Amino acid sequence: MYDFDKIIDREGTNAYKLDLREKNFGTKDVIPLWVADMDFEAPPLVQKAIQERAAHEIYGYTIRKDTFVQSIVDWVQYKHNWGIEKNWIEYSPGVVPALVMSVLAFSQPGDGIIIQPPIYPPFYSVVSGNDRKVVENPLVEMEGKFHINFQQLEELASKPENTMLMFCSPHNPTGRVWSEEELMKVNAICLKNNVLVLSDEIHADLALFGNQHIPFATLNDQAAHNCLTFMAPSKTFNIAGFSTSYVVGANPELMAAYRKKQNALHLHMGHIFSGVALESAYNHGKEWLKELIAYIEENILFVEQFIKAEIPGVTFFRPEATYLIWMNFKEWGMSQKELKHFMIHEAGVGLNDGLSFGEQGNGFLRMNVASPRSILEKALMKIAQARK
Ligand SMILES: Cc1ncc(COP(=O)(O)O)c(C=O)c1O
Repeated sequence: MYDFDKIIDREGTNAYKLDLREKNFGTKDVIPLWVADMDFEAPPLVQKAIQERAAHEIYGYTIRKDTFVQSIVDWVQYKHNWGIEKNWIEYSPGVVPALVMSVLAFSQPGDGIIIQPPIYPPFYSVVSGNDRKVVENPLVEMEGKFHINFQQLEELASKPENTMLMFCSPHNPTGRVWSEEELMKVNAICLKNNVLVLSDEIHADLALFGNQHIPFATLNDQAAHNCLTFMAPSKTFNIAGFSTSYVVGANPELMAAYRKKQNALHLHMGHIFSGVALESAYNHGKEWLKELIAYIEENILFVEQFIKAEIPGVTFFRPEATYLIWMNFKEWGMSQKELKHFMIHEAGVGLNDGLSFGEQGNGFLRMNVASPRSILEKALMKIAQARK
């Protein structure tokens, strides 16, 4: 039994979630439930492996052995029932950097890249920051649940200038796990229109409530040929600080072009802890993850019940994956500015601004529930109190 109720003081550790409170919220005085990492300790065997390596006094250049790719092969088979070959895998220093390298490798300046907002904010900056054009196919909300607008996707994909779909699966922030039917439709549209799929599956291991994530590349051979998949142990095991992720591609031409770009940018090396962290998590983290998922599910149900009873006018779709809740505050009738001011200065709770996920996030805030339940309870009570 792992103890996810344990409160761990993160002050003084240069934690983004804590040490950027002042900058992001204008005050340190908020309970931080924003940035997507967890307030839980990493699996004990990961800690041990890192500590053992750190105890050796030389920190020179490092390599990743065959055991690195083998642990990925084994994990992806175990967790997603996806049989991948070792040479389909390439290390990368982060999913976002890998998306950037793919954009550079597979599109030209000025090309349109389709994204489906509300969406994890770097999907915008990865595109526009590299002089490509953001092409939005907003998700459609029906009774709180978010769906892909296939008709519009088809229209956008059919334009020759739109060459790529940056796909988030499971989807952050809405928590959707796309069904096989939905994925097949996306696949058919992209194949028909020669649109390459970059499938960001960083949240794949965190499918909840019996939902099963389906890797895009497993749909069929054509899908596998027309996509790159981006995965990582970072969200799953709370080890994002190790900047370790990987790209999987069954199409050797795509992988060669990806590797060429990553090598040209000299981002292929990685640091001394990258292999240690990934291998120890994947080889020894199964039980820990099962308990984590159960805890997160209970947290989500707890938040749901609390809000229903104590904070009227707030609604959300119960996430099918991720520890992130996309909360709709529209019934409160506040502007986004007023809503943020209320949450920060009256309630004292630090959530992500919905608008950072695109204009579709107006009226929304995102809550990270990967914290001990007592902290969530405290935050929710503060919101309820401030609202009275
Ligand atoms: C959809 C998605 N992709 C990528 C990332 C971050 O990836 P990395 O830290 O490996 O760059 C996140 C983090 O929240 C995310 O939600």
